[in-house]
Amino acid sequence: MNFSKAVVTSGPTREWIDPVRYISNASSGKMGFHIAEAIGNWVKNVTYIHGQVMDEYKNPKGSKKIGVETTLEMRDAVLSEICEGTILIMAAAPADFRPAESREMKIKKEDGSEVLLLELVKNPDILKSVSSEISKKEISGCCLVGFAAETNFLEEHAIGKLKNKNLNYIVGNYVGKTQKGFGEVETSVVIYSPLGKVAEIGPLSKEAISERIVEFFKMDLTKTVVRPS
Ligand code: PMT
Repeated sequence: MNFSKAVVTSGPTREWIDPVRYISNASSGKMGFHIAEAIGNWVKNVTYIHGQVMDEYKNPKGSKKIGVETTLEMRDAVLSEICEGTILIMAAAPADFRPAESREMKIKKEDGSEVLLLELVKNPDILKSVSSEISKKEISGCCLVGFAAETNFLEEHAIGKLKNKNLNYIVGNYVGKTQKGFGEVETSVVIYSPLGKVAEIGPLSKEAISERIVEFFKMDLTKTVVRPS
């Protein structure tokens, strides 16, 4: 199967509580950056949509870059880039929740109360939005790849997300305080398709892991891909 375009997302999103505080996570953008560089050797037209990544992960060679801040912005950017023959790889770690209200003025800690209650609302799931858009608009030849960042029960959770988000593949990796995952670390990943576990890669640097992930897709996708119904 040949793709005319690759869209790779990377890094964390930020959801502002007030002008100085936000909700986010520890993703650096390294994995998404190396996937965008590696996939450029296979698919010529690459769009890199990144959240607040570290400076060195902002400019993968040969990609069109789109910087976003929030999960809603990332969803809109991804939807605007999806077209016939696109492979989407979501290595980003979008915030799942955002404050119901983002305050215009800084919340003062001198306000007196010992407890600050923050009301959060759920962000849309970007992969689910893309999957339903592809079905609704009958966009053909697309392949959707998610990542699953887990602290436990990797296989169970990754396969659950694969089915729930209607994906062709999901790349599972462990994250957590004492686990590998975020930032400058060697890591291991397991790739699942609707058939179950299809590849295990690592432990290796994220540069090497990214190259192997792309090589795996290139090889596996020369077979016919049928979008899960
Ligand atoms: O950036 P690094 O420091 O190199 O770290 C890399 C990484 C650990 C962030 C990366 O390897 C990774 O696992 N990315 C996915 C992180 C994540 O958000 O996982 P999740 O299990 O919460 O989400 C599952 C999938 O749904 C992901 O592909 C995610 O991009 C996507 N998602 C999540 C939330 C949301 N609202 N919409 C989505 O589409």
